[in-house]
Amino acid sequence: MDFNQIVDRHNTGSVKWDFIARHFGEGAETLLPMWVSDFDFPCPPAVQTALHQRIEHGVFGYSERHQRYFDALIGWFASRHQLTVKQEWVCSVEGVVPGLSLLVQQLTQPGESVVVQGPYYGSFAKIVTLNDRRLVENPLSETADAGYRMDLAHLESLFRRECPPLMILCNPHNPTGRCWSAEELERLLTLCEKYNVRVLSDEIWADLLLPGERFTSVLHLGERWHSRVIAATSASKTFGLSSLRISNFLIPDPKLRASFTRRLDAHGLDVFNALSVQAATAAWQEGGSWLDALLDYLADNRRWFETRAAACLPWARIIPAQGTYLLWIDCRKLGLDDEQLKGAMADIAGIAPSMGNSFGPTGSGFIRLNLGCPRTYLEKALEGLRRL
Ligand SMILES: Cc1ncc(COP(=O)(O)O)c(C=O)c1O
Repeated sequence: MDFNQIVDRHNTGSVKWDFIARHFGEGAETLLPMWVSDFDFPCPPAVQTALHQRIEHGVFGYSERHQRYFDALIGWFASRHQLTVKQEWVCSVEGVVPGLSLLVQQLTQPGESVVVQGPYYGSFAKIVTLNDRRLVENPLSETADAGYRMDLAHLESLFRRECPPLMILCNPHNPTGRCWSAEELERLLTLCEKYNVRVLSDEIWADLLLPGERFTSVLHLGERWHSRVIAATSASKTFGLSSLRISNFLIPDPKLRASFTRRLDAHGLDVFNALSVQAATAAWQEGGSWLDALLDYLADNRRWFETRAAACLPWARIIPAQGTYLLWIDCRKLGLDDEQLKGAMADIAGIAPSMGNSFGPTGSGFIRLNLGCPRTYLEKALEGLRRL
């Protein structure tokens, strides 16, 4: 596995590389894309082989998830996260975001509030507001010593005021890279129980941990919480399969699951893409050591960038992370507003990061860099950022 190898992604329909001008304007094609959270590495060789085999078969009639798919998923969660997943919990949907959107429709009424913790992944805002629900932000608190924390006192005041039926949790958290601890999650769920709030936990980043870190799913916390929680998962971020579109919602509560399955059926979402199923199965069955090598590379990338940034970007405050391949940087020392910051990134640094204000008001003055790339790209990004 040579993660230093450059693979040209131009002209592949890549959102990150081919559609950069849509977000950064005319002429942005020359910028180095550090936005969109997919990585620039080929997926594991075992997945490529499995896809080739399936393509060579040549028949692509209607498909279901075969038993091997479920066995591979259950085996992955057991060995990687010591989490017991029951097959009947698994509801597969084209992607995490579409599944979250369907659950927002199922679990809330138009006009009701859905709580997220800011800075929040932009698509959370989209699926809440475009479904005519109210997005209510509970900002995470942040200090240099303690890092990002949930502000449970403020959350309780929001629960009292807004009576939201639902909260969307992100764990590990995009963009900050925080992995919430069992204790933090227990305290959150206790509050949610008191105010009868359901928790939709987006755990798409669960496998992407830094050395020595552990991921705690809401499902690790035991049956006591099963009627309150849903975990959204996918092999897509872990193995670079985002365009293949399959995700899994783990729903232990039978009633909740039955109404979700009914909703999927109502939309005709009960047939699956044979290539997505094949790829995910192979990834879980055979991708473990590939992922270990990737995690080492990503950790080196992060260490490399943080060390250089500390030495030569005096304005940058890097937020320590426990997971994801995202780097969340406080740029407020530059004294620029968000438009000026975007302009400086493009015109001076020559890079296209995710702008912090796309993660809501608490992201203002920050940028998010994607470290899931060959080291050469990071060298180029650093060189650009030094010019600021
Ligand atoms: C927290 C989070 N959820 C979901 C997604 C996307 O999920 P999908 O492509 O399965 O819709 C992303 C992608 O960046 C993400 O960061």
